[in-house]
Amino acid sequence: MSNKMWGGRFTSAPDAIMEEINASIGFDQRLYAQDIAGSKAHAAMLGARGIVAAQDAETIAQGLDTILSEIEQGRFTFRRELEDIHMNVESRLAEIIGAPAGRLHTARSRNDQVATDFRLYVRDTVDALDAQLADLQRALAEKALAHAATVMPGFTHLQTAQPVTFGHHLMAYVEMVARDRGRLADARRRLNECPLGSAALAGTSFPIDREATARALGFDRPTANSLDAVSDRDFVMETLSAASICAIHLSRFAEEVVIWTSPSFALVKLSDAFTTGSSIMPQKRNPDAAELVRAKAGRIVGALTAILVVMKGLPLAYAKDMQEDKEGTFDAFSALSLVIAATAGMVRDLVPDEKRMEKAAGQGYSTATDLADWLVRALNMPFREAHHVTGRIVALASERGIALHKVPLADMQAVEPRITDDVFSVLSVVRSVRSRVSYGGTAPARVRAQAKRWLKRLGDT
Ligand code: ARG
Repeated sequence: MSNKMWGGRFTSAPDAIMEEINASIGFDQRLYAQDIAGSKAHAAMLGARGIVAAQDAETIAQGLDTILSEIEQGRFTFRRELEDIHMNVESRLAEIIGAPAGRLHTARSRNDQVATDFRLYVRDTVDALDAQLADLQRALAEKALAHAATVMPGFTHLQTAQPVTFGHHLMAYVEMVARDRGRLADARRRLNECPLGSAALAGTSFPIDREATARALGFDRPTANSLDAVSDRDFVMETLSAASICAIHLSRFAEEVVIWTSPSFALVKLSDAFTTGSSIMPQKRNPDAAELVRAKAGRIVGALTAILVVMKGLPLAYAKDMQEDKEGTFDAFSALSLVIAATAGMVRDLVPDEKRMEKAAGQGYSTATDLADWLVRALNMPFREAHHVTGRIVALASERGIALHKVPLADMQAVEPRITDDVFSVLSVVRSVRSRVSYGGTAPARVRAQAKRWLKRLGDT
């Protein structure tokens, strides 16, 4: 038997493998709520415009509501021979309400239908992700406030560089996540136009009201070009780009958790809630959640790569290639959602070892820059010269295997006679972080102010 939705000119059924490669119902059934909402908006508009009888539009709406509850209660049978969510819903509608069901697809195509459904889905997902990201920021800022004065080593090249505060380090991620949210919000603003009514590719001869359907579905306006509307997926590429950048930020944080919790560093502890054991080594506490956060960035970037490559070289307008826009996107967004939740969980769970952090912060002559800055300030030495003098004092300390603040004043004076006792006041890690008061700097007072500013802002959202 030929396809009952489009089989008018066909005499026999598709090959089994044709059906298998063609069907998207296995994954696009996830769009059922958006599909039904789109159909309801379309039917109401057709009724209001007198394109279908008001009574038929009403019957269609009721039938669609019945289908929605059937799906939500798990009583709906999705059928692969009906290809996708759109035809599964429409076919069931015909079973429930009979003839009027055939009028729903007036002035519409699956091309504008799927573009609409998918935009709605991406928009809903962006909203959910935004709320989760705000929660992650809250977790980071709260922990940062509690540790605004906790000194830790700051690294460049993963070599101890200068002391920073743990709070300052966490607040760096609050800023990154803020930009991630901004990128998602930008993408949302651009995607929030309604393709419905673009029909197959050319628009329609029926006197439809695209403003009405756009409004009913919460879009800002209808899309302005029917060809563009059915054949671009830049809203997917853009949100997946934003998702990828976000995933990479969280992956970097996860990597830091892996480093910090490693016994060789031992700067941070995760509780049993966020660690796993080894089946052979009884002593192990592995940061699996952090490792998976790190790894899932790979799938998310993978989904972005996939959609970019699928779209590359597709002529306008719709091509079935575009059905491949969904699975990777669904997967990437659920992965990102999980990753954000796991990261927020770890942030709330982790406890820094303040003593070890402070000790580690002082290693590797981390206050050498403070010494150089002292030479500039106290002796009016040009910074380049101060850098050189400090380098010689560090070399001296290194030869003797002692910390910078343990170098006797006389030995410092042998390098630079004008150095006084006052220099020791800048060589402690606590003094060092306290002195970094420039805007955006690591001084505890600055960190506290930033954390509070963010918490206040996040409280309003
Ligand atoms: N399942 C299809 C998709 O996801 C729906 C659009 C089908 N359109 C078509 N002309 N065959 O892209």
